[in-house]
Amino acid sequence: MSQKIIVTGGCGYIGSHTVVELILNNFEVVIIDDLSNSNKKTLERIEKITGKLPSFEFLDLKNEEETKSAFKKHKDAVAVIHFAAFKAVAESVKNPLMYYKNNLLSLINTLEFQLEQGINNFIFSSSATVYGVPEELPITEENEVQRPFSPYGNTKKIAEEVLEDLVKTASNLSAISLRYFNPIGAHESGFLGELPNGTPNNLMPYITQTAAGIRKELQVYGNDYDTKDGTPIRDYIHVVDLAEAHVKALQRLLNNEQNKPLEIYNLGTGNGSSVLEIIKSFEKITNISLNYKIVERRPGDVEKLYANTALAKDKLNWECKRGIDEMIASSWKWEENLKKEQ
Ligand code: UD1
Repeated sequence: MSQKIIVTGGCGYIGSHTVVELILNNFEVVIIDDLSNSNKKTLERIEKITGKLPSFEFLDLKNEEETKSAFKKHKDAVAVIHFAAFKAVAESVKNPLMYYKNNLLSLINTLEFQLEQGINNFIFSSSATVYGVPEELPITEENEVQRPFSPYGNTKKIAEEVLEDLVKTASNLSAISLRYFNPIGAHESGFLGELPNGTPNNLMPYITQTAAGIRKELQVYGNDYDTKDGTPIRDYIHVVDLAEAHVKALQRLLNNEQNKPLEIYNLGTGNGSSVLEIIKSFEKITNISLNYKIVERRPGDVEKLYANTALAKDKLNWECKRGIDEMIASSWKWEENLKKEQ
């Protein structure tokens, strides 16, 4: 019989790609989502790829009663993968309480009610943003965590602290926190991808929407950084590679292979690309000339950020298989498919 996994935020970008990989690895998936920044249509998209429609619980994890009863209903689950959270940096700066309330209450309710039902395995969706301005590169998990620039980022740091405290108690919790670098790309089928509500904040959806004519112009935030071409360096990782890492982390938890009750892993490729390199690759792959302009730096952006991935390779037995060209080509295929749907 397949093991049941609860995926909160499973209709979102990284959540939905992870649900696909879980189903392909014979897990039974229950998605909990309030659809605040996602779409129910994602369930059909997942079915189109995997042939299976995941179970769905429409609920807001801030609601204690509903969360409690959902975990009671699915108490036969063996693990929770917790993606559900708000993630727009600028919005969190404008409205910190909204971010602290949503991201922390939903985390606390999830942990409380899953543990109440004896579901002791937990995977958390963290971010490289917890490293702040890195002192050395590539960054290992040993690097000191700093207070992130934004309330959004701070909710990730606080969440890891909550987990740290909780595993010290008699809670039986076994947790893995995964620190994502810059996830981009889409499922190779073109049926699943990132679908930000409103104006995108991140680079890749902004690029594809500009190329598709939805946005007039891409703004490149600064070219006076101390990097090869003056634009910031990031570690872009294919969302399907990222999704596969969640399955590996889950298997580690289920096989009781952990060295300690809370493990933390960087999920990146280890390679850095500049903003201009991404733009040039996009233009080369799609044969589209992007309308872009260099503007002022964006407050809070760091110059260079890329991962040391040795720990994930060693302990999760996981490595990225897909390169920048596949990330860009799949993002574009998804954007073109979305256009055709309209
Ligand atoms: C951002 C967040 C980070 C969050 C991550 C995932 C900040 C400071 N960091 O990471 O906390 O975990 O998204 O949601 O917001 N760029 C442009 N023009 C654009 C958009 C981006 O030039 O229109 C540049 C940025 O300056 C940056 C790079 O592209 O150098 C990547 O930006 P983005 O995709 O927003 O990711 P991060 O800033 O790395």
